[in-house]
Amino acid sequence: MPASRTCAWCPRELRPDARSDTRFCSRRCRQAAFRLRRRSGVAVARRGRAQRRVARTGVDDTPARFAYADPPYVGRAQRWYRDEEIDHEALIASLEASRYAGWALSAAADSLAEITPLCPPHRVCAWVKPIGASTRSFGLHNCWEALIVVGGRQRRPGVRDWLLAQPARGGGELPGRKPLAFCAWLFDCLGMQPGDQLVDLFPGTGVVTRAWAELSLATTVVTDASPAATGPSDPSSGSGSRRRMAQVLGDASSRPNPGTALAEAL
Ligand SMILES: C[S@@+](CC[C@H](N)C(=O)[O-])C[C@H]1O[C@@H](n2cnc3c(N)ncnc32)[C@H](O)[C@@H]1O
Ligand SMILES: [Zn+2]
Repeated sequence: MPASRTCAWCPRELRPDARSDTRFCSRRCRQAAFRLRRRSGVAVARRGRAQRRVARTGVDDTPARFAYADPPYVGRAQRWYRDEEIDHEALIASLEASRYAGWALSAAADSLAEITPLCPPHRVCAWVKPIGASTRSFGLHNCWEALIVVGGRQRRPGVRDWLLAQPARGGGELPGRKPLAFCAWLFDCLGMQPGDQLVDLFPGTGVVTRAWAELSLATTVVTDASPAATGPSDPSSGSGSRRRMAQVLGDASSRPNPGTALAEAL
């Protein structure tokens, strides 16, 4: 009996009678992957010509390790995730200690004054959400989120330091989950290319991990549980928050399957 095959976008199994070249379980999954590829410079870098151009600019093409941290934002851990506040100083120190070729950290715009002094030399990029301010809020309302980018490959063509994209509409209910347009832009901001490894430190729905797996195909995607990568977490000791971090990062297979929601995540 032939082994069952899994959809290239979500964890559903393909129908047993699916053709050998079928990759997706549904039109929805196929279209999500297509939209991601269309938005991403990584897909462009896959083409031979672009690869050669990258090589000529002297950029290091060797596969490298990158990280993305999307923790509960400052002041929102309890309200959104019923969790303790993340120790951003420890998180940033562990990102630095892990010697990634580049890393990026999502943060609320109103926490930048607190977070940026903790970071090494960086760029602050903006994900602008074309949404209105709530009529119930007072004064300035958060309509953009910051992406702090450290290191990475400086590839041609250049990448805009802002993104205009709606928040994720599908993909479940997790507050702060990222849309596919954001994922594609994130990889471009870091100058990632096929063969690179992505360490997704706060996977949530898993959409970022999934998006990189789809774009890079040949790439290894890990949810890194090593102390060097997780930094402040230590499975055997520490506060509830640290234990929680270790749980989330330590065993991807024990997390709820992000699958069914992923197909809708854009
Ligand atoms: C902003 S969300 C990540 C969203 C994810 N990038 C996505 O697009 O689906 C933050 C995630 O961190 C998890 N989390 C909360 N506290 C944590 C902790 N101490 N350690 C690790 N993860 C934590 C939350 O449950 C949530 O899933
Ligand atoms: Zn699918």
